Amino acid sequence: MRIDIVSLFPEFVAQVAGHGVVGRAQERGLLALHGWNPRDHAEGNYRRVDDRPFGGGPGMVMMIDPLRACLSAARAADPAPARVIYLSPQGRPLTQARVRALAAEPRLVLLCGRYEGVDERLLAAEVDEEISIGDYVLSGGELAAAVVVDAVARLQEGALNDAESAIQDSFEGDGLLDCPHYTRPVEHALGVVPPVLLSGNHAEIARWRRKQALGRTWLRRPDLLDRGALPAGDRRLLEE
Ligand code: ADE
Repeated sequence: MRIDIVSLFPEFVAQVAGHGVVGRAQERGLLALHGWNPRDHAEGNYRRVDDRPFGGGPGMVMMIDPLRACLSAARAADPAPARVIYLSPQGRPLTQARVRALAAEPRLVLLCGRYEGVDERLLAAEVDEEISIGDYVLSGGELAAAVVVDAVARLQEGALNDAESAIQDSFEGDGLLDCPHYTRPVEHALGVVPPVLLSGNHAEIARWRRKQALGRTWLRRPDLLDRGALPAGDRRLLEE
């Protein structure tokens, strides 16, 4: 898949998101990241990309024309149709289900705003979808774009070494939080590993993990648990 990042700091996004799984996905040819800077498409000596908001108020608003020219250059760089996403706190909150759908797109263009925002007319004309990564305000869309790149890249087929690990993650499949994990040593001053994990009994281990995942979700994120929709076996585990 191809992801184009339209930002005043495109190399920042590539840097932040370029390590580990995302870096490996790029090396394996599963993901191509390209950066585009609206300043390269701005006119005049100052290459101005922002101006004061009509109606007054603090901050600056990103202008239509440099962004539009930049987006059009990005679109033209590849024939694959691109889904254009604007990162903003006004967007739809990102979920793993949405990440999965985006990961199946051939191409995304991530538009990062700075300053107070982007001229609304550009958004109305060019953007397919607005995404928020949470109910807090960042000083620009770049970190949010890096989050999208990471979440989408690790779902590309072949990006993870153990394909299973994506399926078991929190929010995958059943929408529950993940169970706790342990590794060596078995005994440590900070505690011992739950004996069931050492038992070799795979059915018991699966049951324990499921129960932990349910319990954690119930304690930490009850909003994720639709108890009516849980299978009867899970309801019993929760009530034990
Ligand atoms: N830009 C600024 N804040 C943001 C947020 N919470 N999510 C996505 N983009 C943003």
